[in-house]
Amino acid sequence: MKLKKGFLITVEGCEGCGKSTQSKLLEQYLRKKGFKVVLTREPGGSVVAEQVRGILLNPKSKLSPVCELMLYESARAQHVEEIIKPNLKKGYIVVCDRFTDSTIAYQGYARKIDIKKIEKLNDIATDSITPDLTIYLDIKPHIGIQKAKSESLKDSFKNGDRIERESISFHNAVRKGFVALAKKFPERIKTVKTNPVIEKTQAAVNTEIDKFLMKKKIYV
Ligand code: TMP
Repeated sequence: MKLKKGFLITVEGCEGCGKSTQSKLLEQYLRKKGFKVVLTREPGGSVVAEQVRGILLNPKSKLSPVCELMLYESARAQHVEEIIKPNLKKGYIVVCDRFTDSTIAYQGYARKIDIKKIEKLNDIATDSITPDLTIYLDIKPHIGIQKAKSESLKDSFKNGDRIERESISFHNAVRKGFVALAKKFPERIKTVKTNPVIEKTQAAVNTEIDKFLMKKKIYV
């Protein structure tokens, strides 16, 4: 099925919430329904943005909070221009593993940078593109972080990447941020409690996707 204008669906959550797995499953679910889908991620998703990801996640990088914020936004600006915008224009559904809400939660709530300033930078980096739907996968940080650290070998960082190594109070602040965002934007952000059984979380995500498609009057 070809949409006139695509949709941007973002998947958000704390470390170890299963975003990447659920994003992949969501991509397959939408493809099976006949949509053209692009799966991407932040930070990353384009060649340059993936290079910036390497700097951001490397535990050896010593970054000030503002430098960190700017790097996330730089990676985003390139990713939006190169991947997100053209695919939305072509009528694709873009599924993005993390996006602007992560910056509010991590750099705003956890690093304590002024949220109004971050909102402005998000707006510049995205050229005012906002997600049509956001799935927030809720997990308690002390449970998620163990899982995340064991998986971060995928980015070849033993004992976790630079952000995963932050304190539990940092990760609790991130979660507080996501919960506050979900409360502030109930139409856009749908909370799904993660279940240790992947299929159960997947079913809850799919329910939200079906509701969204119905709301958009897309029957497939
Ligand atoms: P992940 O994609 O494996 O979750 O790793 C990305 C890390 O970057 C994760 O710890 C969350 C963090 N992050 C921010 O701090 N700010 C952002 O704007 C984004 C997109 C991610």
